[in-house]
Amino acid sequence: MREAKFIWMDGDLVPWGEARVHVLSHALHYGTAVLEGTRAFETPDGPAVFRLDEHLRRLLLSARIIGLAMPYTVDELRTATLGTVAANGHPSCYIRHLAHRGYGEMGIAARGCPTTVSVATWEWGALLGAGVRLMTSSWRRNDHLVVPTSAKATGPYLNSVLAKQEALDAGYDEAVLLNAAGYVSECTGANLFVVRDGLLATPPSSAGALEGLTQDTVERLADGLGLRAARRELMRSDLYAADEVFLCGTAAGIVPVSSVDGRELGDGPGPVTARLTDAYDAVVHGRDERFRHWLTPVAA
Ligand SMILES: Cc1ncc(COP(=O)(O)O)c(C=O)c1O
Repeated sequence: MREAKFIWMDGDLVPWGEARVHVLSHALHYGTAVLEGTRAFETPDGPAVFRLDEHLRRLLLSARIIGLAMPYTVDELRTATLGTVAANGHPSCYIRHLAHRGYGEMGIAARGCPTTVSVATWEWGALLGAGVRLMTSSWRRNDHLVVPTSAKATGPYLNSVLAKQEALDAGYDEAVLLNAAGYVSECTGANLFVVRDGLLATPPSSAGALEGLTQDTVERLADGLGLRAARRELMRSDLYAADEVFLCGTAAGIVPVSSVDGRELGDGPGPVTARLTDAYDAVVHGRDERFRHWLTPVAA
């Protein structure tokens, strides 16, 4: 990976190679951490972080859901984030917030382990090339009766890791997961939309999908473009019958799917995906005045 100079850890900017934790940290053993993935983009005002406060609020919400004490406020985390991006001098970057149960006591009880918070940034290009070959995973999505699927917590990501590995090993680019009831949930690190007859549909959080900020962005942009978007249950066959399918997430951006389980959807983005991608690019790069409030300039 492309290392940066500093990582923020509990109030200090420490050199990248010295951002260490103890091997007996609770989160390492039991997956007791919450995370966020955010991006800073190049804009006419220099680098600016997209929907920063909403990402930070989701981090705090995830911590509350899993019962993890969060020692910092949104204001403090915003200052830490902007300071880290500035100190690392990125024109644009990915930002990883992590709040994890640290070192103290061992055991499931998770008592006596203080929360450690870190903010790491690095320059990270597109994660998936355009034209993703999607595979339906044999793994089912985490069920909300088993773990809280609306918390972005590290433990449940094992589900994503298994599905991603399975897809790559089988020669695909990415996996889509069905939930326990058999409905489409999401991909391993992104939400999913289908387009059919000009209508957009994406699974709701009750299907086990994260309430994605990019998903929300897409819905708002669709509205501005006069397109209709709904959150509704989707069957596996809805993926096969779609005119267009695309993934969306902070790390991935908006990425067209070229096939699902070998059923071809066509080369390159379909017309709806292309319009949304252009609109998204304009927004994140500060070229759309209507959405400038979503960008927090690093320099300010
Ligand atoms: C499992 C999962 N679903 C969806 C998303 C997309 O969320 P967002 O658009 O807020 O980045 C992510 C991104 O981290 C994810 O990990």
